[in-house]
Order: sequence, then structure tokens, then C-alpha cells
Amino acid sequence: MPKHSRIVGTGGYLPAQILTNADLAQRLDTTDEWIRARTGIRQRHVAAAGEQTSDLALHAARKALDVAGMAAADVDLVIVATTTPDMVFPSTACILQAKLGAHGGPAFDVQAVCSGFVYALSIADRMVASGAVRNALLVGAEIYSRILDWSDRGTCVLFGDGAGAVVLAPSSTPGILSCHLHADGAYREMLCVPGFVANGAVSGRPLLRMDGQAVFKFAVRVLAEVAHEALTANGMTADAIDWLVPHQANERIIEATARKLSVPMSKVISTVARHANTSAASIPLALDVAARDGRITAHQRVMLLGVGGGFTWGSVLLHW
Ligand code: UT7
Repeated sequence: MPKHSRIVGTGGYLPAQILTNADLAQRLDTTDEWIRARTGIRQRHVAAAGEQTSDLALHAARKALDVAGMAAADVDLVIVATTTPDMVFPSTACILQAKLGAHGGPAFDVQAVCSGFVYALSIADRMVASGAVRNALLVGAEIYSRILDWSDRGTCVLFGDGAGAVVLAPSSTPGILSCHLHADGAYREMLCVPGFVANGAVSGRPLLRMDGQAVFKFAVRVLAEVAHEALTANGMTADAIDWLVPHQANERIIEATARKLSVPMSKVISTVARHANTSAASIPLALDVAARDGRITAHQRVMLLGVGGGFTWGSVLLHW
């Protein structure tokens, strides 16, 4: 009787259109040098006009199912972690389920901003390990290009669109070793999109707003804290980790976190240069790249670290 869950497939998708730092420098008072030096970002991908978050999710999901050797009919649970759903409701997970051609299993979205994927993974782990569902499809998918103020150089250069997916299956040996989740709404205004729907209209200002320096300091602190929490819970030290896969927001945040944990950058997966911050999609996108290029191999220990608006943060420690 399986009592654990394990990742058995990963997939990623980035929309075709690429927006480079040089492209942004033509419309904003910014430079490629500034963006690269402060963030490590070189380019981001932007969804086409008709493309929805569920479309990005569908591409990533199909690739992950392919690796898992599964068809849509094998998927019981669908969770989409997103801050940019197709519509107010139904959930993007229900729309994705229909586009995949799966039926009848539970499907819902998780809204924990850039921590959404680690939140989704920890929920799915419990549901798969307990036998409540068999196989789970988890997707982080975002179209941030539609919630950015493209005249604000302090925020719009940082984000991009994309989707990453994993398939989780029952296992008799532990794949997911531990999950630790946190939130503190006292920090809700540090990074937010303060818009709302009322009386058939969008009110407020539904564009991303952020105190960049405060976010930077908060992120490095809690990422290191939640990593230590996971290591302590598993009776491990940082040198037991083969790969660190942190939220891909900014190369400097990633480096500062690795330094605080005394993990060398050679053990850190960083893909932020090629797609910028894709919020809930960033961790599964990075995981997929490292799984496909052969860096992450069987039996290695991988630590995922998420942090985002809310504020929310969390870790998942797993055996590949
Ligand atoms: O999922 C979490 C999402 N959030 C983040 O990852 C953001 C975390 N924060 C950061 O990564 C950094 O705070 C930023 C990259 C956003 C900014 O870097 P910084 O070193 O904290 O710069 P700063 O905000 O102190 O701004 C320094 C200067 C300012 O000019 P003055 O006042 O010194 O004249 C800004 O106006 O840089 C200016 N600036 C820019 N210049 C060129 C801000 N954005 C840009 C830009 N291009 N895109």
C-alpha cells in the first residue's frame, strides 16, 4: 500500500514571443546593463493576445504527462497555482482539466502568489499519499504581462509569462520528504495587485505594485529560515542537499539565499536569466530544465523554496 508520493514527470512551456532587455530599453528609461546587474534577467516571454493561462498550463501539462508515460485519463487531481487565472471563475484548473480531456477528479486553483507551487505540491502530496486520489497533475502557470504597469521600470522589467508542471504518483518509498508552509498577511501591501471586481467592473488599480527593497530583504530572510526549518525537521545539514531550486525572482536573491545557507552556486538551479520572474511557474520551470538536462538524477535530494505576495513562503524537500 503506497504511503508516499513522488514526482514522475515534469514539463515546461514559455510563450513564443521574447522580450529582451534591449527591447525594454527602447520604450523605458532603463538599460540592459542595469537589469542584468540588479536582477540577472536577460529576457522574458510574453503570451500572445489570444493565449490564456490555461493554454500555457496545457502545454506544460502535456509535456509532464509525456515524461510520466500517462494519458489524461490517468489524472485524478488537477491543481493550478496561479495569480493570473483565465477568469474569476471557474478555476483555471477546471478549464485545464477540460482542455486536457480529463473528467471527474477534483480540480481547483491555489492562490499563494509566487509560493503557489510549493503550496500546491504540499496539498497534493497529502492527497496522493493518503490514497484520496491516485495521480495528480500540478501546474504553476502565469501571464504577468497583463498585470504589469509597462510604464513602471521598477516592476515591469522583472516579470514574465510561463508555465511549469509536474505529475505526482503514489509511491511505496518517500519522494516528498517534507513540506513547510507559512504566511503573514501583515505584509500584504509589500507586493500586491490591488484591484477588485464589483458591480460588473474592475475597480482599484489591478496592476502589480511592490516595495522592491523590502521584498528583497524579506525574501532572503524567510527563504533561509524555511530551508533551515526543513533541514532540522529531517535531521540534515545543508551539505545533504544535492540541488536547491529556489523561486526564480532575481539572481541576487538566489545568490544571497545560497550564501546564507552555505550552499555553493554549483548546486543551485537558476533559470531566471531566460524567463524573468514567472511567479508560481518559476519553480516547476526550473525543476523541468534541470531534470531534462540531466543535472537532477535519481535518488538525489532536492529542496524547493518559494516566497511571494501575501506574504507567503514555504519549502518542499524531496527525493528524486
Ligand atoms: O517574487 C518576488 C518579486 N519581487 C522581487 O523579486 C523584487 C525584489 N527586489 C529587487 O529585486 C530589487 O529591489 C530591484 C531589482 C527591484 C531594485 O534594485 P535596487 O538595487 O533595490 O534598486 P533601487 O530600488 O534602490 O533603485 C535604485 C535606482 C533608483 O534610482 P535613484 O533613485 O537612485 O535615482 C531607481 O529609480 O535604480 C532606479 N531604477 C532603475 N533604473 C534603471 C529602478 N528600476 C530601474 C530600471 N532601470 N529598470
